[in-house]
Amino acid sequence: MEKIHKFKVSLVVVAVVALCGYSLGMSAQKLMVDNIDEVVKAMTLEEKCHMVLGRGMHFNDDAKFPGTAGSTFSVDRLGIPETYCADSQQGLRMNATRAWDHRDYYPTDFVASMTLASTWDREAAFKVGQGIGNEVREFGLDWILSPAMNLIRNPLCGRNHEYYSEDPYLSGTIGAGYVKGVQSEGTAACPKHFVANNQETNRNNNISQVSQRALREIYLKAFEIMVKESDPWTIMTSYNKLNGPYAVQNYELLTTIVRDEWGWKGMYVSDWNAGDDAVAAMLAGNDMLQPGQDKQYQAIFEAAKSGKLPMEVLDANVKRILEYVIKTHNFKKAGHQCQKEAGHQCNKPCCEQMCSAENLKAHAQVVREVGADGIVLLKNSGILPLTGKRVALFGCTSYDWISGGSGFGGTSVGHYTVSLIEGMRSAGYEVYKPLISAYTQHIAAEEKRLFPNGRPPFSLMPPARAEEKQFTADELNAAIEGSDVAIISLGRKSGEAADRSEADFYLKEGEAQLIKAVSEAYHAKGKQVIVLLDICSPVDVASWQDQIDALVCTWQGGQESGFSVADILSGKVNPSGKLPMTFQIKYGDAYADKNFPSNVDDKTLGAMFMWGYNKDQAPKERKPQANIDFTNYEEDIYVGYRYFDSFGKPVAYPFGFGLSYTTFGYENLSVTEAGGIYTIQVDVKNTGDKAGRNVVELFVAAPNSKKLNKPEKELRNYAKTSLLKPGEKETVTMKVSVEDLASFNEKASAWKTDAGVYTFMICSSANDVEAKATAKVKAWTKKVHNVMQPNVKLNLLKR
Ligand code: BGC
Repeated sequence: MEKIHKFKVSLVVVAVVALCGYSLGMSAQKLMVDNIDEVVKAMTLEEKCHMVLGRGMHFNDDAKFPGTAGSTFSVDRLGIPETYCADSQQGLRMNATRAWDHRDYYPTDFVASMTLASTWDREAAFKVGQGIGNEVREFGLDWILSPAMNLIRNPLCGRNHEYYSEDPYLSGTIGAGYVKGVQSEGTAACPKHFVANNQETNRNNNISQVSQRALREIYLKAFEIMVKESDPWTIMTSYNKLNGPYAVQNYELLTTIVRDEWGWKGMYVSDWNAGDDAVAAMLAGNDMLQPGQDKQYQAIFEAAKSGKLPMEVLDANVKRILEYVIKTHNFKKAGHQCQKEAGHQCNKPCCEQMCSAENLKAHAQVVREVGADGIVLLKNSGILPLTGKRVALFGCTSYDWISGGSGFGGTSVGHYTVSLIEGMRSAGYEVYKPLISAYTQHIAAEEKRLFPNGRPPFSLMPPARAEEKQFTADELNAAIEGSDVAIISLGRKSGEAADRSEADFYLKEGEAQLIKAVSEAYHAKGKQVIVLLDICSPVDVASWQDQIDALVCTWQGGQESGFSVADILSGKVNPSGKLPMTFQIKYGDAYADKNFPSNVDDKTLGAMFMWGYNKDQAPKERKPQANIDFTNYEEDIYVGYRYFDSFGKPVAYPFGFGLSYTTFGYENLSVTEAGGIYTIQVDVKNTGDKAGRNVVELFVAAPNSKKLNKPEKELRNYAKTSLLKPGEKETVTMKVSVEDLASFNEKASAWKTDAGVYTFMICSSANDVEAKATAKVKAWTKKVHNVMQPNVKLNLLKR
């Protein structure tokens, strides 16, 4: 009996196992973490061709996430879910209101990238990335199309506020902090626009002509550092052509350098509608083309059938897309049955698709703190921190504060922007009232003049801003009576699809008049004037800053800007921001200015707006025009401070500059070496009377730099101290490897560190060396592929 029972039990076990095996066999087709190859095999050619094309843009109200940039193809039978992406840089860009939903979906308006870079704080970058990654997850999406981290080559690039720095090390490390933060939430990051996409003019067709050395040392370097430190799941290729082919269609760039040399295994996505040959993009290793076009589908399908696009290449593209898919939130929650529709109260964020109020509140606090830490104090007579409690706010920008730039990557996502008035009042200041009503009326009148038919609902071009209001002597005298100090705000806004013009670098006539009149009047009565720069990129300060007493570069700090600015002006937060780029004296001072579209007329710009020069509109015999059809990077590696410092040119404010309300001293600098790694230690002491944080900048000078045509010195690391009390000391440790000291040698196609004595400098800006030590460095070399040569002869600057 017992035997029979056992036999029956075993039969049941065998049957169960067989059934499970059968069902496992069936479900092996469904995408899982470890069966990607099988799923790719099971896909039809049609499915593969759809998979490599995106699905965007989701601008309509009937979309799942209205106002977002796109999504990826789904194949239900294989368990491949749709995944969702959104811009941006400063916050998740999605319509905040939906026609069919009474709730609102406002994400946080974080800080502009330039503000973030000015913190020189990897931890701040992590926190901002984490906040955005969290909102992407909680709002139900998967993938954020940021960070944008093109090098700041010229102060007029329209998207500079979305970028970090003129220095690849600062850009790369801040980018890495941000990517790590995003991905710590299980959200995919998408560093962009890869690469040498440094102007907006004719952005879809311009050819960046760059030497191999400048590419390797400057433009690729920022991405290389970020890729190696943070391993982004995806990268977005850029619109421009680079030394010939479109970046999105360039095998040497995407595969030889990034995959083969750097070892990156993630998924490439094109910028939206980039390139002109879908098959070439696939062959180059660009896995996904967004937002996807029918003609791209046809081309890929035909090429795959004819063998022009080998199946193993298409399979590899699809595989990398699926490797991204299996990491996404929507893939992971595909198994979780949301029962909300059935009336079941499910509180999981994946069902709710709404960021929790608690997290939005925490993110607002991050914005306020990072916004303040990214403010750079440029000049201070001693008036700051403010002691007087009555302030008069001048300048239209004081009443129309700019929290970020325009364009797809821009702001306008937040629920609100804390105004300067609100910020100052909440810090206990009394804001001089007659100016509030005068400016309210003036701005309303200007609005009518500039937009007689109302503002366009959406424009990529930054909207025109009001001309400055001028005041009579009586009005000024009354303001002086009613305030202890004048604060004048100057604003500049730019964005995607258009560069700023040279004129935008300088003050407008009305701005100059206002500064002069207010400064003279206040000074005559023994009172002082502060200027706030609410700007998207550097402007001229050299020609007028002598007239004023304090200059604060607030940059654009997102929804809490008014609080962040007030925290700095009041001294609640001691400024610790440092410039991530040089403030040049005049436009034209930087060598790169020679080759930049600084004065493109509106008509040409219109013809190129926004997907690039419209070939049908162009005159037939049109010759390629410098800086529109091609841009020669003749400054070579001498971008930003590498130019000013190496060629001894004066600047208004150097890279890395920023004052504090306290002072710092540096002691006991040491450099030691072990196994090709140099460890640099220095004691930082707060020598002043207010608590503060200090950025320690480590520059290194190579021996014979002039003879060897190397920059005078280069940023090789940095650190930010904790909040040091007066008299308090902190030992800061930074590391630099022998590889980090290498320059790119084109003849040998190799990275080379020359042997010799190197100088390690602790600096408070590119122009202020605080302490120095030397160390012997042994030669080091690493051969790489001889790829990406420019196809024209460039007249390169040399030392
Ligand atoms: C921009 C990208 C953006 C994409 C999707 C493009 O025009 O260059 O930065 O991610 O649009 O919105």
